[in-house]
Amino acid sequence: MDFTELYETAVGMRFFAYTPYYDFRVGAALLAENESGEKRVFTGCNVQNSAFGANICAEHTAGAKAVSEGYRVFRAVAVAGGMGDEISEMVLPCGVCRQFLSEFAAEGMKVILLKDGSPAVFTLDEIFPRPFAL
Ligand code: THU
Repeated sequence: MDFTELYETAVGMRFFAYTPYYDFRVGAALLAENESGEKRVFTGCNVQNSAFGANICAEHTAGAKAVSEGYRVFRAVAVAGGMGDEISEMVLPCGVCRQFLSEFAAEGMKVILLKDGSPAVFTLDEIFPRPFAL
């Protein structure tokens, strides 16, 4: 799957976003690899909660799905978000998600975001240069 398809998959995942409190719908598609070198795409959406702090972001959902199935090497993630049916430019992973992704990021992990009307490829390093690491 190329990066454009990964981005389109993220767009499609906005359909499942659970956003009764604030209709900012986010979809994510994560390309991950397991110990046998098998690659798979895991998808996610944001899942809000009436206790706002219990919100789960789309990237976090996709990442937890991947790790829970043994796919611990993250190669690329596409994120698409916006209010209602609109898709906004440059919806970047939040700080918590950047830290979460950095735990499993392969060297040079890509982040695909909408920029100037098309999916554009960034690296996690570029948007999160100094992660916390124990
Ligand atoms: N959100 C994500 O799913 N991913 C991000 O990286 C940023 C924000 C969600 C959280 C919340 O449900 C909504 O977007 C806006 O607050």
